[in-house]
Amino acid sequence: FQKGKLTGKHVVITAGPTQEAIDPVRYISNHSSGKMGYAIAQAAIDQGAKVTLISGPTNLPVPERVERINVKSAEQMLEASLQLISSTDIFIASAAVADYRPSEIAEHKIKKVDGEDQMIIKLVKNPDIVATVAQHPERPFTVGFAAETRDVANYANAKLTRKQLDMIVANDVSNTQIGFNSDDNAATVFWPNGSQDLPLMSKAQMAQDILLCVHTRWVEKESA
Ligand code: PMT
Repeated sequence: FQKGKLTGKHVVITAGPTQEAIDPVRYISNHSSGKMGYAIAQAAIDQGAKVTLISGPTNLPVPERVERINVKSAEQMLEASLQLISSTDIFIASAAVADYRPSEIAEHKIKKVDGEDQMIIKLVKNPDIVATVAQHPERPFTVGFAAETRDVANYANAKLTRKQLDMIVANDVSNTQIGFNSDDNAATVFWPNGSQDLPLMSKAQMAQDILLCVHTRWVEKESA
């Protein structure tokens, strides 16, 4: 991978978890640390790209020269992604977006009710950010992730097709050594007519390998 391959290109990356508010003090979220997405941002900077990181809440520092847009909810992440779409060349969705959000955000802290041992929170589906980007008339080269706990290849390929993505990076998040919040990852990258295994390695190294794969497929698609 020659240095500077992404010079002049705008790479937009979603990273981290989303937080879906229940009331002013509570939310639904997940264990994403943002490490995978931030590593891709760093690797893209190293290749000369202009990089925007649309990030859910994380404890990570912003890599130098990366522009970070802070968001909380999936809806905010979608809005930020769409605002940038006409200037985006490559969109990489590594964020762990909540599939559902509470149907209503209570205005005040929900109080415990004496004598009630259960409470029900109604959830509604969130918009699918990466699918919306991939189906947009101004779609950039669009890359998704698939976090699976079983049958990784089948589920990942189904997401690649259903969301109309150019590529998907599938990782098995049932293994705590990799995936959520770890420093390492192992994955398989799928595209419409091929795949590549990325064995266990640091997220920093994997970010470089993912970008190399993205670049190769992207050049291929542009020249098709
Ligand atoms: O952040 P880390 O701790 O480093 O962990 C990295 C990771 C495990 C979070 C990352 O490697 C990963 O797998 N990210 C995708 C997590 C996920 O939500 O996967 P999914 O299979 O549920 O979603 C498939 C794709 O659709 C993803 O690209 C996701 O960003 C996107 N999506 C999902 C739902 C939604 N409403 N909008 C989306 O854009």
